[in-house]
Amino acid sequence: MAIGVFDSGVGGLTVHRELVARFPERDFIYLADQINAPYGARGGEDIVNLTRAGCERLFEAGASVIVLACNTASAIALRRLQQTWLPEARARHGRAVNVLGIIVPTIEAATGLPWTYEADRQERFGGEKVEAIDITGVFSTAATARSRVYEIEIDKRRQDLAVFSEPCPGLAGLIELGAPTEELKVVVDDHVEALRRRIGRHPDTAILGCTHYEIVADLFAAALPAGTRVIHQPTAVADALERYFARHPEFGLGDTGRRDFLTTGTTGPQTDRVSQFWGAPLSFDAA
Ligand code: DGL
Repeated sequence: MAIGVFDSGVGGLTVHRELVARFPERDFIYLADQINAPYGARGGEDIVNLTRAGCERLFEAGASVIVLACNTASAIALRRLQQTWLPEARARHGRAVNVLGIIVPTIEAATGLPWTYEADRQERFGGEKVEAIDITGVFSTAATARSRVYEIEIDKRRQDLAVFSEPCPGLAGLIELGAPTEELKVVVDDHVEALRRRIGRHPDTAILGCTHYEIVADLFAAALPAGTRVIHQPTAVADALERYFARHPEFGLGDTGRRDFLTTGTTGPQTDRVSQFWGAPLSFDAA
């Protein structure tokens, strides 16, 4: 059985690369739903249905644990699938299977608190008012920003963090298509500046809340003031998965060195930007 990694496109490779480095002995299947990318501009039902279909395809291909390396799918679809579809999928496949998201590990990294920690109501809404002293900026797709998942979940845990989301519609799509650096730089600079204007200053911490953005993390780092703390999701997810596997030995993960890269879109070599990021030419097969 393999670890499945799912994204709408190439963004999830940023997480996949870190997972392969962390668990080199394990088998992996990557699935990019490129024919339906980008997800960020889609409506909720669409995102749920597409994510379910992607996970089903990965289970059929031999994955037992799937990491949704996609904020949009994690924010919009994960809870629904866990509640309404996974129990039935488990019964149908007759083995241990699970789907994990990317937002929980990111919030754990951003807050420095375990997911199970929730500040009590009194601490958040009563008692002595804590001034927000640290501003967290979240750069994400429009769908993730609309879900307000980062604002809601961080507020449950840390009253001293104020969260502002900056939706960057179009950016994931440009990265997916391999747009030139100069074009991407203009878009990243514009969003960093738009967030600065809205808050009145730059954030202290930035979450790159779309896995595609990690491919241009250097452009975000250059646009943000030196010293801005940046939460990198690949590391956060690999840390969380290590803890998860220590608690869950039941998935029968293989160690044959399987590395499959599948796409619902056009097969063959990916863009130069992806190869550059990956460190070698990367080619996708038909899902
Ligand atoms: N890379 C995905 C994310 O983390 C999705 C981007 C998109 O398809 O719009 O949100």
